[in-house]
Amino acid sequence: MERTNYNGELRIEDVNKEVTLLGWVAKKRNLGSLIFIDLRDRSGIVQILVNEETPIPDIRNEYVIQVKGIVAKKDVPNKKLATGEIEVIAKEIIVLSKAQTTPMIIADETDALEDTRLKYRYLDLRRPSLQRNLILRSKIVKCAHEYFDNNGFIEVETPILCLSTPEGARDYLVPSRISHGSFYALPQSPQLFKQLMMIGGLERYYQIARCFRDEDLRQDRQPEFTQIDLEMSFLDQDEILTIMEGYLKKTFKETIGVDIKTPLRRMDYSVAMNEYGSDKPDTRFDIKLYDVKDILKNSDFSGFKDANTIKAITIPGVAKDTSRKVIDGLVSEAKKFGLGGLGVLKYENNILTGSLVKFLNEEIQKQLLEIGHVKDGDIILIASGAFDRVCFLLGSLRCKYARELGLIKPNTYDLLWVVNFPLFEKKEDGTYSALHHPFTRPTPETAHYLDEDPSKVLSAAYDIVINGYEAGGGSLRIYDQEMQQKVFRILGLSDEDIKRKFGFFVDAFNYGTPPHGGIAFGLERLSMIICGTDNIRDVIAFPKNLKASDMMSNAPQGVDPQQLIDLGIEISK
Ligand code: AMO
Repeated sequence: MERTNYNGELRIEDVNKEVTLLGWVAKKRNLGSLIFIDLRDRSGIVQILVNEETPIPDIRNEYVIQVKGIVAKKDVPNKKLATGEIEVIAKEIIVLSKAQTTPMIIADETDALEDTRLKYRYLDLRRPSLQRNLILRSKIVKCAHEYFDNNGFIEVETPILCLSTPEGARDYLVPSRISHGSFYALPQSPQLFKQLMMIGGLERYYQIARCFRDEDLRQDRQPEFTQIDLEMSFLDQDEILTIMEGYLKKTFKETIGVDIKTPLRRMDYSVAMNEYGSDKPDTRFDIKLYDVKDILKNSDFSGFKDANTIKAITIPGVAKDTSRKVIDGLVSEAKKFGLGGLGVLKYENNILTGSLVKFLNEEIQKQLLEIGHVKDGDIILIASGAFDRVCFLLGSLRCKYARELGLIKPNTYDLLWVVNFPLFEKKEDGTYSALHHPFTRPTPETAHYLDEDPSKVLSAAYDIVINGYEAGGGSLRIYDQEMQQKVFRILGLSDEDIKRKFGFFVDAFNYGTPPHGGIAFGLERLSMIICGTDNIRDVIAFPKNLKASDMMSNAPQGVDPQQLIDLGIEISK
């Protein structure tokens, strides 16, 4: 189709050029004898001036038109537009397609509810901010193809209809028509296939892989998402992390021009939990958790006497604004995390106040102020109870305050590896589950605890954490049959379970397995960070809402009864 230029690319150098442009009418202003049209395409907007001499058809917002004209310098430039120094004097306008009045305003600043935007996603996609996000996402993928191809990785696709994989979420199931009562699972990740490719001798694999997990959704979680998925043979952990750092460095540079300093720092899981209250610590601000058990166990407050963990954080400068209502809000937040409550102490005019203070003698108060580096006007939040709950509560409060107090500098990127995770998680009923997945290798220093005390085994797993998001995770894998059996046993899997769930996989290990390991980056999470949004739906063209529905097509929906009959399925009411 005839088109000489993209609208957003026209500049002062183009003055006097004859151009043919295409696009959508973003705005039309009628000033008597003159009509101004903002013409939008993917590259941006340019102003079209239609004067009396040019015949103009009926044109409304969002009509698709072709404009032939001449570029002219504007007397008064529009500083808000990249093309603002020029306009195009129209000679001919052809309407290519008409549009009804749209149900939402199509501009970056829209007051449309997200539900409306998702229902009319094809209109929402015309908004420049969403287009920018999808362009950045596409560049992240392009960097992956270039980088991993240059580093000897081969791209291999793996099946979508497969057997359940072990990432630990609920599976999406697909019934088999040919074999009634049998189901495929959609892959939660290509984990088993990529390990089998290492046994198959491919050495370095990558894939932009679609994954499916039926779990509760959040602002950074979708039921179907994409991983940049990798697996490598004959490399140790440092070698793997170095290759991955190279990819991140290239991607940040080539998408948003940010230089990432490598090697990235590594933080033990125990430090992340103890100091930041999270296994994905946001380290862009300085509020840290500190341990006050030794100080407070001797206080008169009975709640602290046999608490497993007592930790605190100091929030700077908010004492004045910490009203009764704010304190009640904080306490109810603590209850949501399964804790009995939260101690809130204010420090103003050299005096500590708060309902806990009566239990704290002068010496304890002094020690508290010291260990928490508490300054006049600060508050101290103290939580006690089970380790994980205390950490997660204070970890979440430190982030909430940092956001509210503006402690996070915009456009800063803090990347780190969290390493040395526990291999197992002990559940409340005393049984163990795999923190990562059952194929993760123990660290050589702690592998002997497999026989003695599994809770002490650390894993050769690593998560890449960026600005408080888990942007990816992986591990070295077990390649020794005996160790794999031991881990399965600890996870409570019977021989029969193993055979049914992973029989084909375990068998493969009998035929020569190279030491191997891998990682998967969450493409949407990386895109969110690079695009600067905290909503995963902003980086997906057609996302699901928090109820896992597609607002546009209304999927999921009931099906034709005959389809169920073909599949041998009856719906119970
Ligand atoms: P994991 O389960 O940690 O590891 O997933 C890897 C990364 O995928 C992203 N992610 C998600 N993104 C959006 N929505 C979701 N529901 C979702 N779930 C996970 C996260 C996460 O860090 N097979 C292993 C990888 C390996 O060991 O090589 C795996 O899938 O960014």
